[in-house]
Amino acid sequence: MTSPLLPALRGEQTSHTPVWFMRQAGRSLPEYRELRAGTAMLDACRDPELVSEITLQPVRRHGVDAAIFFSDIVVPLQAAGVDVEIVPGRGPVIANPIRSRAEVDALPELEPDMIPDIAESIGRVTAELGRSTPLIGFAGAPFTLASYLIEGGPSKNHEKTKSLMVSEPDTFSRLLAKLARISSTFLDVQLSAGASAYQLFDSWAGYLSRRDYEAHVLEHSSAVFDSLGHHEVPSIHFGVQTGELLSSMSRAGSTAVGVDFRVDLADASTRVQPGQPLQGNLDPALLFAPWEALAPRVEQIVRQGLEHEAGFVFNLGHGVLPDTDPEVPGKIVDEVHRVSAEILAA
Ligand code: CP3
Repeated sequence: MTSPLLPALRGEQTSHTPVWFMRQAGRSLPEYRELRAGTAMLDACRDPELVSEITLQPVRRHGVDAAIFFSDIVVPLQAAGVDVEIVPGRGPVIANPIRSRAEVDALPELEPDMIPDIAESIGRVTAELGRSTPLIGFAGAPFTLASYLIEGGPSKNHEKTKSLMVSEPDTFSRLLAKLARISSTFLDVQLSAGASAYQLFDSWAGYLSRRDYEAHVLEHSSAVFDSLGHHEVPSIHFGVQTGELLSSMSRAGSTAVGVDFRVDLADASTRVQPGQPLQGNLDPALLFAPWEALAPRVEQIVRQGLEHEAGFVFNLGHGVLPDTDPEVPGKIVDEVHRVSAEILAA
């Protein structure tokens, strides 16, 4: 069965709705925990054999319609020379945070020849997947990467980031422009090596007001999508808690918009650009509910998504939680396929 992902993102009719899950590879899978044991996260991300195996694990187990490249948004920063580590249970920690104009200017650029392993990993994965299952590449959006660099690690309130944004807007803009180039290069390498779609994650954009997002962030995310236009592959723009930002984010230039679980898909449908497909948006916490309670919620999202005529991809409204029962995502895949095929055949 050929994956309906790329046709759905092009707005074409499909026989059923495509489904994949953010963080489908990772700690919810026992086979992942086994393979990762003893290897630091960022070392695993630079090992093509591990990367290809981990990327394929959820495809085999859940029967999803796409693989997402196993990597991390901070991999290109590390490759460029930033001292960063992923601390388990916490997230990326930066040894020397960037807060001044001089520190921004000293941040190195990323060159494609610094990440030959990424091209090799993508080549291995696409060879294994064959033509039937597409590989989705990804990168962090400039604002989310900037927050890690400025705060020095995960932040609850992003206060240092916002302070720099309003007190030194030129320095902030220079940093985001540089991060846009780094993410573009990271994605360009993935797409040149065979990834057939990509998602830009702006996980922390939802902490911004719409005014600040439009004044300080939007143009830099747009620059990423613009720089990759020549690949002619579909793209998805996603952020958490971005209901208020959805129409602004939808103008950055992506093919589709990812919707967080707090937003009703019918509302999201009115906020994006005409002809723009939606992706989303089952609450990842609901995967802990008994199947009898979960199945109707899956069906409801499929029905709402299919009412959005521009195209729909089923996903969660954020990543799979680490303690999720690894049997549940596959049941959701089957249910999405069954319900959508019924609706589309009627
Ligand atoms: O399956 C997939 O979706 C692909 C892999 C993927 C990872 N990180 C692997 C990972 C993707 C797409 C990401 C993106 C990423 N990384 C984002 C954006 C998406 C989002 O969730 O909002 C962010 C903010 C990061 C930064 C990051 N990396 C965090 C916050 C963490 C969690 C730290 C923890 O231990 O809780 C990581 C580590 C990470 N990235 C893991 C995985 C599978 C866990 C590593 C482990 O196994 O210990």
